[in-house]
Amino acid sequence: MDRRLFVRRCLMAAAAAPLLPKSLLASVPRRPTLRTDEPLRRIAFGSCNNQTKDQAHWRWVARENPQLWIWLGDTIYANKASIEDREGWYQSLKENPDYKTFIDQVPVLGTWDDHDYYDNNADASYVDKDGSKTLMLNFLDVAHDNPVWGRPGVFQSYSFGPSGQKTQVILLDLRYFLDKNLTRRSLLGDLQWEFLEEEIAGSDADLILIGSSLNVCSPIVIGGLEGWRGFPEERQRLYNLLASTDKPCVLMSGDRHMGEMYRIIMPNGKPVYEIMSSGLTHSLGITLPCPERVGKTVGRRNFGMITIDWTGTGPQVQLGLHSAEGAEVYQELTTQFSY
Ligand SMILES: [Fe+2]
Repeated sequence: MDRRLFVRRCLMAAAAAPLLPKSLLASVPRRPTLRTDEPLRRIAFGSCNNQTKDQAHWRWVARENPQLWIWLGDTIYANKASIEDREGWYQSLKENPDYKTFIDQVPVLGTWDDHDYYDNNADASYVDKDGSKTLMLNFLDVAHDNPVWGRPGVFQSYSFGPSGQKTQVILLDLRYFLDKNLTRRSLLGDLQWEFLEEEIAGSDADLILIGSSLNVCSPIVIGGLEGWRGFPEERQRLYNLLASTDKPCVLMSGDRHMGEMYRIIMPNGKPVYEIMSSGLTHSLGITLPCPERVGKTVGRRNFGMITIDWTGTGPQVQLGLHSAEGAEVYQELTTQFSY
């Protein structure tokens, strides 16, 4: 069977037959409404949140009045934990007074990375990845009718705002399908590539935000550091895909315990921006070479802010790396999408 047809049929079959019966899914408590009819103007995001450490940073995120918080992975650290213990760690974060106060005010979306999925640098071979997925989606209070429940992995897509002010948020899953075997090397997997390519090709948004737990741009993937550079063919496929749409695109990433911004030139000359924010509870101050980096490496605890001004012709997007320890803004960048 044609591979694309096969993948499409898998997606349709998965949507028709969810992996888990709804009776087994935890009840979804009331949370602030995720208003998809309003334009997105203020999005906060972050990664690398050790749940055993102080969570006072949520007060600083809340101070920015985000409409939406996006988890970009390593939401908790539960290396090699059993499903029961992992659930307990998620619960301990959800019951943390600072985080609880935050999510009572701000809608939350997210994807995962290695430490919340299973273990440091974990891949698709994790045998209980569907159980881990259930815990993660329940932690995020993902609605039972969300298509993500009915297909493998946790990749998702959302659309916000009316035509002319529409933002599409695509969240990738870089763990469920990850295969580092040299003969089968795969980061997104066929099913997720089909999804991503259809989302981009069919997008009627005015701005596309893509969340990737791993860094996209950095050329450094040694010493245990992971990133799209470790999968050069798939990174090129991503760049070709982003070049194929005339929509402005911003990549959000995390994982590396530092904050950076990048201006990446696609094969057709189109600029795409990446903002990496990490971590919320711990950080490193090591600057690695990267020709696309704009500004400095932020080596302090941080979270990311994306602000969108819709009053002009097309979205005016500002990227920010904010302190998770105070009111300081470490770095800001106003994007220029024209080329
Ligand atoms: Fe990670």
